[in-house]
Amino acid sequence: MRLVVIATAAAIRLGRPTAPRTFLRRQGQCTRRQKAALRDLWPRYGVDVAWNETLTFEGAGPCVLDVGFGHGESLAGMAAARPDTRFVGVEVHRPGVAAALMRLAEADAKNVKICRIDAVALLEAHVEPEPCFDEVCVFFPDPWTKSGSNKDAPATGGSGKDEHRRIIRPHTLDLLSARLRPGGCLHIATDVDEYAEHVRNVVVSDARWSAVPPLAWRPETMYERRGLNRGRTITDLSFVLLRGKP
Ligand SMILES: C[S@@+](CC[C@H](N)C(=O)[O-])C[C@H]1O[C@@H](n2cnc3c(N)ncnc32)[C@H](O)[C@@H]1O
Repeated sequence: MRLVVIATAAAIRLGRPTAPRTFLRRQGQCTRRQKAALRDLWPRYGVDVAWNETLTFEGAGPCVLDVGFGHGESLAGMAAARPDTRFVGVEVHRPGVAAALMRLAEADAKNVKICRIDAVALLEAHVEPEPCFDEVCVFFPDPWTKSGSNKDAPATGGSGKDEHRRIIRPHTLDLLSARLRPGGCLHIATDVDEYAEHVRNVVVSDARWSAVPPLAWRPETMYERRGLNRGRTITDLSFVLLRGKP
């Protein structure tokens, strides 16, 4: 698969994301092995995205975007199960990217590229608002619930509600609506009931999307196992894009 990088005026104009961050700034420490993976495997799978560059996703077969791929379990698993599909993963967490690189190399994946950048920034400033993805996966997004009310929500250091930091929100739906092919699907999985409810409210109230049966299969991830171990229910939701730009 080939990702073509083009410098455009649009990217130069946009520059940085306009929406609240959906992740913690803290990047985590990399082990020596992870540092080696970042050094040795990044050239094979990684795509550096400069502030003024736009990516185009060229190649045969469908193209799937995995937003916040964590340690790459779902990304590597889906890529192995669907060798004729191209996968683009986007993640900000450095140790997670390193773990994913090792997983991809171990599987000798040939249909995956990785960007280490805020997914919102990627969509806003580095991908033209033209249909290029066939599916978008958001598996186990950080729930960003009311601070202190959920031990699994990322610590925010503040008080009050953090729902505005959720990746599934009207702004992201606008970005995805323009970049997903009509008939393409958005797949979301969560172990937080409140987040599932939030997703239903946000996506179903948007006339461009319609609920469809969820994925029959996706790889299990660490976050999913953790939720299950805590007695949580996993909710899988899928929505088809009926029409694109607002
Ligand atoms: C709870 S983890 C789930 C990881 C993975 N999808 C899984 O199921 O194992 C959520 C991940 O989303 C990433 N994330 C959150 N917001 C992001 C953003 N705007 N761009 C890229 N990654 C993001 C976080 O760094 C974190 O690794």
